[in-house]
Amino acid sequence: MTKGRFITLEGGEGVGKTTNLSFLEQMLTAQGIYVVKTREPGGTPLAEKIRQLLLETHDEAVDPMAELLMMFAARAQHIRHVIKPALARGDWVLCDRFTDATYAYQGGGRGMAMDKIAWLERAVQGDLRPDLTLLLDAPVQIGMVRAKGRGELDRFEQERYDFFEKVRQAYLNRAQQQPERFVVIDASQPLDEVQRAIKSRIDSLMADG
Ligand code: TMP
Repeated sequence: MTKGRFITLEGGEGVGKTTNLSFLEQMLTAQGIYVVKTREPGGTPLAEKIRQLLLETHDEAVDPMAELLMMFAARAQHIRHVIKPALARGDWVLCDRFTDATYAYQGGGRGMAMDKIAWLERAVQGDLRPDLTLLLDAPVQIGMVRAKGRGELDRFEQERYDFFEKVRQAYLNRAQQQPERFVVIDASQPLDEVQRAIKSRIDSLMADG
């Protein structure tokens, strides 16, 4: 049995996560690897309901702590029912966003204290961390134009430009702090260049055994 790997894809709005996640899935499946493709917030029926609560707009203001706790509530379900069982089978888990998104959006964007997020991370995940995180990075303006082209905006997509600037910076700071786990990919370059960069990093992860 091959060792399961936990790979996450991160980035701001409209950086091409969905397209590149499918590319990654096809690439690994073609090599005979069992892949579980999933996303956060979400990934289980209950976590998807929490996702809906998080993304829709409400008449009352959403308290940042409530938002943070809902992210981790969904994550606890996802880890228990999807991520851990898949890794235990030796499958590879490809996850569209994970806890780095919490550091970026709730930490960077909303200004929640990073040490509170770190505390919740330890409480909910124990020592579970991604083996590899691909950060698709692009100037905020590019991503916002792409996201707006997709139709109705969710509660996060309705945020202002400076919120996404803070999200981007928080992602880049994390990548700088943990260079062994992160690969930063310039998502503003042509798609085949982006995918070449992804492939080269995955090839070296596979070579590691
Ligand atoms: P997306 O999966 O379509 O990108 O939408 C999910 C939204 O949720 C996105 O705007 C980022 C946000 N989010 C957080 O704010 N914190 C988190 O921890 C996660 C996983 C997502």
